[in-house]
Amino acid sequence: MTDKLIIEGKSKLEGVIDVKGSKNAATPIIAATLLTSSPCILDNVPLVGDVEKMLEIVKKLGAEVDFIEKRKVKITAKNISPEKLDFDMINKMRSSILFIGPLLARFGTVRIPQPGGCIIGSRPIDFHINAFSKMGITIEEFGLKKNGSRSSNVYHFNAPKGVKGKEVVFDGFSVTGTENVMMAATLAKGKTTIKIAATEPHVQDLALFLKKMGANIKGEGTSTIEIKGRKELTGAEHFICYDYIEAGTLIILAVATKGSVCIENAPVENLKLLLNKLKSSGAKLKIGKSSVVVSPGKKLVIDRVQAMPYPGIPTDLQAPIGVLSTQAEGLTLIHDPIFEGRLKYLEELNKMGAEIVICDPHRAIINGPTKLHGGKLDPLDLRAGAAIIIAGLVADGTTVIRDVTQADRGYEEIDKRLCKIGARIKRINR
Ligand code: EPZ
Repeated sequence: MTDKLIIEGKSKLEGVIDVKGSKNAATPIIAATLLTSSPCILDNVPLVGDVEKMLEIVKKLGAEVDFIEKRKVKITAKNISPEKLDFDMINKMRSSILFIGPLLARFGTVRIPQPGGCIIGSRPIDFHINAFSKMGITIEEFGLKKNGSRSSNVYHFNAPKGVKGKEVVFDGFSVTGTENVMMAATLAKGKTTIKIAATEPHVQDLALFLKKMGANIKGEGTSTIEIKGRKELTGAEHFICYDYIEAGTLIILAVATKGSVCIENAPVENLKLLLNKLKSSGAKLKIGKSSVVVSPGKKLVIDRVQAMPYPGIPTDLQAPIGVLSTQAEGLTLIHDPIFEGRLKYLEELNKMGAEIVICDPHRAIINGPTKLHGGKLDPLDLRAGAAIIIAGLVADGTTVIRDVTQADRGYEEIDKRLCKIGARIKRINR
């Protein structure tokens, strides 16, 4: 059963909205709890679809998962078995790739199908495979027969003599690649050095949690991370960092709708480039230590935006920025070199009256400002889901999002929270 959203546009948004915990920090940290048999306690856990699925997979592996409070969960992975990995659930989400590192480190073996997830491009896993094979792990790939047909690949990662610490040089910045190797390396024999390491805030939050578990890690937040393997890790308690992607999305939403909104718990240090870009484009922002107050601005001129690895403007904010660009003066060039399938939401915006030319899989030119009108839309990925909600709030008339699963994967009760600041959004359970 999927829910749909009915959005009435053009409401005046006013008030305070707070940012929840980071989905992209919570998912690797949940996987990291498998590195120990002792209990781990995670606080500020966002109650979103992807996190619920990760917890479900962990439970099916045999871990005890108990919510102590609404967003505080205790995970005890004492009696887990890697062969209990739920292939159907893994097939549905990309984050499940993060189980490879911890399970290999603890058990020396894991069988896992090619992880699924957002339709934002080919999303290969060669960086992970190359890194693990450097670390003494053999990888076999075979077709999984489903109803008599070969429907997906299964990988068998095997380290009978344990994971070996080595130098791993990635071919490009990879968030989950860095996280996977970092987790595997915590229990490896010897020292691992990761070069071209991703530096995103969620990678840093994972490193912080691993250190609390006793891991010996240096250099997180830079492009070289060193990890000295330990014999074992202990349980730890951790407060998941606030979500800089959700914060950025809400700030852009407030600017696009010309609202008067205070975004609280915003990790502003992680959003410097976005905030500079918005300010220089004409947005009226008052930036505090952990809050951003948006007031209605006048003319907005964005000109160009390129998505980049951290500390650049993240690809996960490219779609909300695309919506904002439909309200900016003149031409805006959007360039997202990271994934080749992340501009599809622009076709939905064109259906709402936007003037957008998609030049190639990575670049688009948006002519603005245009009046958007409501429509019936089907966002294909999580960040497009948020973008279409912003578009619906900006548009004249009624916008129907026929399946809100994508937005629900990463934004906790987004409709309820937006209604509290004046949005008119109805959720219908079909
Ligand atoms: C993470 O995906 C995030 N997911 C994504 O967020 C985010 O968009 C992305 O990083 C970039 O910041 C999680 O943290 C769970 P990558 P990930 O490996 O790790 C290429 C969201 O909406 N590449 O950093 O899968 C790849 O094709 C999600 O919350 C390879 O070529 O992305 C891309 O061009 C969507 N081979 C680039 O590297 C590989 O083996 C960066 O991808 C791996 C990646």
